[in-house]
Amino acid sequence: MKDNINFLKYQYALKMLETEMEILLDEFVHRHGYNPVEHIKSRLKSEESIKEKLKDKNLEYNEDNIFKSVPDVVGLRIVVSFINDVYDIVNMIQNSHNIIIKQKQDYITNPKESGYTSYHINVLVPIYLENHVLYVEAEIQIRTVAMDFWASIDHKIRYKFPDIIPPDISKALESYAKDIKELDQKMYQINKIMNSYHENI
Ligand code: GTP
Ligand code: MG
Repeated sequence: MKDNINFLKYQYALKMLETEMEILLDEFVHRHGYNPVEHIKSRLKSEESIKEKLKDKNLEYNEDNIFKSVPDVVGLRIVVSFINDVYDIVNMIQNSHNIIIKQKQDYITNPKESGYTSYHINVLVPIYLENHVLYVEAEIQIRTVAMDFWASIDHKIRYKFPDIIPPDISKALESYAKDIKELDQKMYQINKIMNSYHENI
């Protein structure tokens, strides 16, 4: 049987979210005279990953289950320079009048067991259909370039060991996550010093 699933609502939600972020960030740059963003990446989850996720949750692959149980079909990642920028971006998103915050997870203060750090916000994005408004969930990940570097390598390594990752490798990754955290603190300090020089000119 052919899966007849309509993914258009996710495409609309991604467009809405991208546009909202672009406007909020332009405003932020205008107000602060500073651009915290290194880069932004957005994606729709592949059908294959959606199927895998539902299988992990023992749920059938259908439109209703995707909508209710896969919160990250729409995903946006904002990579910033400094750790304080992460929290500025979180505040910026919280102040949006167009998207609704569903849940926030601060994996910077409370890293995942793997060592993974990032700030996650699950939001509801309105899409305007012919006779009603539909709220589609999206996952926004906010992290520094250093955290992004770690997550990217971690992902590649874990992909090579889909079942169980050797303990020495997972320990090493966890300890490098701590190194990354220290480095982010040092970069934050150096930026603070740089800003104070700038103010005194
Ligand atoms: P989901 O069912 O995927 O939502 O799991 P969850 O709710 O336990 O996790 P959460 O939503 O907080 O984070 C899911 C996303 O965070 C993943 O899709 C990854 O992008 C990222 N992530 C979480 N943990 C790790 C990790 O250990 N390593 C890497 N590289 N990324 C991670
Ligand atoms: Mg989640």
